Amino acid sequence: MRKNIVAGNWKMNLSIAEASNLVETIIDAAPALRENHVVVFCTPFTHLQTIAKIIDSKGHSQFALGAQNCNDQIAGAFTGEISVNMLKEMGVTYVIIGHSERRQLFGESSDFLKKKVDTLIAANMQILFCCGEPLEIRNAGEQNQYVQKQLSDSLFHLDAAQMKNHITIAYEPIWAIGTGVTASTQQAQDMHAHIRHVLSETYDSQLAADISILYGGSCNAQNAEDLFANEDVDGGLIGGAALKSETFLPIISAMH
Ligand code: PGA
Repeated sequence: MRKNIVAGNWKMNLSIAEASNLVETIIDAAPALRENHVVVFCTPFTHLQTIAKIIDSKGHSQFALGAQNCNDQIAGAFTGEISVNMLKEMGVTYVIIGHSERRQLFGESSDFLKKKVDTLIAANMQILFCCGEPLEIRNAGEQNQYVQKQLSDSLFHLDAAQMKNHITIAYEPIWAIGTGVTASTQQAQDMHAHIRHVLSETYDSQLAADISILYGGSCNAQNAEDLFANEDVDGGLIGGAALKSETFLPIISAMH
């Protein structure tokens, strides 16, 4: 049975005090989660240790700690970077890779992302792998090929066991991120079904059925229920709406 996941991507927001408050409130007020439900807090690096302690103290195994980035190297002269072992030491189990902000603002190439994926898998981590097209590609009707290439360039060298055990895909159309313009439920379902079809062709139908595919891009308390009701939408990667308990809790409740 594939997992339903709601992951909050805080980006470069919240003080440690604000973040601690938020996580305490969310875990205390969260609805009863099913066995296949997971909630991930992807915090800034500086917040990991504090948030890890809060999650531990609550004793709910379905809340997990995530990071927003990781270097592809294990150690060495890489000023300002963070390695997978450092993240593991903090209690991180999920790492976001390939977010469009990293691709666009920090010039991360498919090849670099592929190396990060390999490093994280070797360290037995879970990867939230982001893909998604810019507006001009959507307007040209080329989104399916675009997303397929992103997946094949950075993920499809993996064998089936690596894919199944380590990869969650997050479809995040760039035109929907932080813009307030959400993909329609049909647009989300169509792309998720396409991704599942590509997984089925590249691997097999069982693997395609087992991999969780999250939607991201202006997902909020109002639209999460409709988006998650789609057959192929297994939860969300949430930016702005993950920063407040009033907006994040209804999204957790929308997991089916
Ligand atoms: P948003 O961000 O929910 O604020 O659009 C989503 C993301 O970037 O993961």
